[in-house]
Amino acid sequence: MTHILITGASGRLGGAAVRSLLALHPAGSVHALVRTPDAAARLRRTGVDARLADYADPAALAAAFRGIDRLLFISSPTLDPEQRLRQHLDVIAASRSIEHIVYTSVHGADHDPAHAATEAALRVRGGATILRNGFYTEPFVTTALEHARNGVILSATASRPLATASIADMAEAAARVAAAPPAQALWELRGPAWTYPALAAILSGLLGRPVESREVTPDAVGPLGPLHAAAAAGVLGHETDDLRRLLGREPRGVASVAAAAVHSG
Ligand SMILES: NC(=O)c1ccc[n+]([C@@H]2O[C@H](COP(=O)([O-])OP(=O)(O)OC[C@H]3O[C@@H](n4cnc5c(N)ncnc54)[C@H](OP(=O)(O)O)[C@@H]3O)[C@@H](O)[C@H]2O)c1
Repeated sequence: MTHILITGASGRLGGAAVRSLLALHPAGSVHALVRTPDAAARLRRTGVDARLADYADPAALAAAFRGIDRLLFISSPTLDPEQRLRQHLDVIAASRSIEHIVYTSVHGADHDPAHAATEAALRVRGGATILRNGFYTEPFVTTALEHARNGVILSATASRPLATASIADMAEAAARVAAAPPAQALWELRGPAWTYPALAAILSGLLGRPVESREVTPDAVGPLGPLHAAAAAGVLGHETDDLRRLLGREPRGVASVAAAAVHSG
């Protein structure tokens, strides 16, 4: 039996990946890495073996990786690039006995020092698949939905496209790769491209009242402003086929994510 451990299992991506993997792989061979006893207890109730370690604790990582054949390594959410890289290198160093690592990197990783250096370290290590995850669709939809209640959603994208992807689809793709690592070592995971005017029309239909998209400055958009600016510069709109190939179906589009957000209240 191949034993697979998923890190970041209390988070959005890791948690969804655990659920996807349980549908693909025998429960007794699905393991999860978390940082707190509460998170471990929640996962154990779903039949998953939960182990405790922090990315900053090499000894605990080595103990948690015992008996593991494959690692689904969810990148650290730490924003400090040096700290993030140190954590990632510690995870890779502790993974010596692990046959294969699947690493969730990010769209544009060549321009992100911590992700680029982590990918380079994994290439040196060998036995690694790198998934460059597109930006999540959900935060764009959630923010737009809050604004849509006033009839206007804010964009600084110049109506240019964003090929974002849903968390559930990227988690399922990662689980599929961990369950059966493909020969291709680098994947660019993106969903179907969409624009703010299209999202306004979708929300208008879902809410049953007019919603328009208004162009403002990136600062006025809030925390997603830098990604809006990147979209306006034309760097987020390029679609790829990789997510569809891994899922064996079309990835969810922004309309599906918006419908789920509206129906969940
Ligand atoms: N593509 C995108 O648009 C996008 C958006 C957001 C994030 N990301 C990146 O994707 C990764 C996962 O995202 P997410 O949405 O799942 O994030 P999340 O919901 O914040 O989950 C992060 C996970 O990492 C764990 N973690 C944090 N620091 C850790 C440490 N020092 N040692 C061990 N585990 C640690 C957290 O554990 P606790 O529960 O104990 O804190 C949690 O399980 C992150 O690198 C994040 O930066 C990508």
